[in-house]
Amino acid sequence: MSMNTTLVINAKGGVGKTTITTNLASYFAARDIVTTIADYDPQGSSLNWLQQRASEARKIHGADCSSRLGTTLQNGRRQIPRETRQLIIDAPAGPSRLLLQDLLGRAQAIVIPVAPSSIDVHATANFIKELLLVGHVRVRNIRVAVVANRVRSSKPIYAPLEKFVTSLGIPFLGKVSDSDVYVEAAETGLGIYDLPTDACSTELREFLPLVRWVHGEQAPEETSTNVVPISAARA
Ligand SMILES: Nc1ncnc2c1ncn2[C@@H]1O[C@H](COP(=O)(O)OP(=O)(O)OP(=O)(O)O)[C@@H](O)[C@H]1O
Ligand SMILES: [Mg+2]
Repeated sequence: MSMNTTLVINAKGGVGKTTITTNLASYFAARDIVTTIADYDPQGSSLNWLQQRASEARKIHGADCSSRLGTTLQNGRRQIPRETRQLIIDAPAGPSRLLLQDLLGRAQAIVIPVAPSSIDVHATANFIKELLLVGHVRVRNIRVAVVANRVRSSKPIYAPLEKFVTSLGIPFLGKVSDSDVYVEAAETGLGIYDLPTDACSTELREFLPLVRWVHGEQAPEETSTNVVPISAARA
């Protein structure tokens, strides 16, 4: 069986790349699919999340692919277990062209989180243009989708972006709300798929289009497996 690689990226910082990465990883782990996060960000936020991960939670592998300590991309690759079926790449903000090209060479799918501000929406539209024109994602057959993150109200801040991406044939995978559930779960290295369903039914519902797009139609409606009590998440 081959490995599916999903790149979570946006040129902007703080838009939710790590949050989307870790929750996607928790989804696959909950389905007993061998999952690895490749952290290309020198901040190491995804690796830090993995370090906090409760021992009862399902295993997710981590690979330090940042160039922080002079680690080469080649070294990073070697840390990815061969049995990995789903590789999620957490990209740094503002990747160099060289790094972007390297990441695009590995990804089958790209998820672009965008935060609710007109500045972020504008920057994301430019980043998508770069992916299309410089990254040649169409020629390379890489699927691309956009997801709105940290949505606080129904303010139609995304309308221009949604119109822009859909005009390009890029799916807009809906909105992930600004919710403490993501923040609290992350404190113990958990994602929403590690929590009891009734503790995060809204979050599971809003993540469904995203996991369906990444995993294909295999993603079932009920997706939390409740392997870690929420008390552990808050301990
Ligand atoms: N949907 C959400 N609800 C609540 N808080 C969120 C949500 N998404 C992200 N956050 C919080 O926003 C902050 C930035 O999120 P995150 O670290 O995922 O972004 P990032 O794009 O990876 O940032 P960076 O560019 O620094 O790597 C974090 O404190 C995170 O907990
Ligand atoms: Mg990050």
